[in-house]
Amino acid sequence: MESSRFTIACLWALVTIAVLVPSECTRTRARHDRRWGGERGPELELDLPREAGCRAHVKNLTEFGGVGDGATSNTKAFNDDVNDWPLIDPLPSYGRGRDSAAGGRYSNLIMGSNLTDVIITGNNGTINGQGKIWWDKYKQKKLDYTRGYLLEILYSDRVLISNLTFKDSPSWNIHPVYCTNVVVSGVTILAPVQSPNTDGIDPDSCSGVRIEDCFIISGDDCIAIKSGWDEYGIKVGLPSEHIIIRRLTCISPTSAVIAIGSEMYGGRPRRTS
Ligand SMILES: *[C@@H]1O[C@H](CO)[C@@H](O)[C@H](O)[C@H]1NC(C)=O
Ligand SMILES: *[C@@H]1O[C@H](CO)[C@@H](O)[C@H](O)[C@H]1NC(C)=O
Ligand SMILES: *[C@@H]1O[C@H](CO)[C@@H](O)[C@H](O)[C@H]1NC(C)=O
Ligand SMILES: *[C@@H]1O[C@H](CO)[C@@H](O)[C@H](O)[C@H]1NC(C)=O
Repeated sequence: MESSRFTIACLWALVTIAVLVPSECTRTRARHDRRWGGERGPELELDLPREAGCRAHVKNLTEFGGVGDGATSNTKAFNDDVNDWPLIDPLPSYGRGRDSAAGGRYSNLIMGSNLTDVIITGNNGTINGQGKIWWDKYKQKKLDYTRGYLLEILYSDRVLISNLTFKDSPSWNIHPVYCTNVVVSGVTILAPVQSPNTDGIDPDSCSGVRIEDCFIISGDDCIAIKSGWDEYGIKVGLPSEHIIIRRLTCISPTSAVIAIGSEMYGGRPRRTS
């Protein structure tokens, strides 16, 4: 278990390569600041994270003992005993788990919350979720809670996820929730086509999302646009809107290339192209 916790700590740090920019960057940002529901032009101009030079915090895997040679593995495998895996609260717009009625869910592999100006990038390095353990236990109904996602970002603005390969997620791969100005670019997502619920990219109650130049093979929808579930989704009431998807290659024999829903209780999307 210790190694798993360490892995989470490591990856957490990897993600928080953000925030606290010097004052001249702050001034530029303020002019571009847009909130929920703000109208955008038809070209969907997004506020992207500032260039690396504008940020005070950059975390590199090498700072945590990782090796960036493209060959050395930097993570320990998931602990076999998933019952030791940390639990987190369900999302407000879901109210309960998806895999089981129990409310809690297993922690995501990488997650970040309430962040601004985040770039997660990796020169096409691989983040491997070692999902097989989870898929097997899920199929055998041996999990008490809902499986975690490979990357989940909540309540964040200006998020760029680029040039990475996401492999074998326990469940969904990339899940931005309650976020604004999200770009997913140059990302490869790989999971066996029979793996359960391994959606590629699921923007959920997000405003302003661009997904481009991605290659996805997965066991479920390549992209699914969502906005919560049942009365919880209605209560939170945040639709997904202003979404552009372009240059997407998708292999998903039994599911959708781009699904609108199935969880769509916070309102239908506006202006998706
Ligand atoms: C991370 O560290 C590696 C090895 O020192 C280096 O090649 C790479 O440029 C660094 N990346 C960033 C974003 O600083
Ligand atoms: C993150 O932001 C949301 C929405 O503003 C807020 O409800 C929540 O308490 C914040 N969480 C943290 C950890 O600050
Ligand atoms: C990134 O890596 C994946 C897996 O190794 C590979 O399939 C893909 O072609 C690579 N993408 C790019 C743009 O090099
Ligand atoms: C991602 O890769 C593309 C093509 O190699 C490059 O132009 C772009 O700057 C990279 N993005 C980041 C954030 O490293």
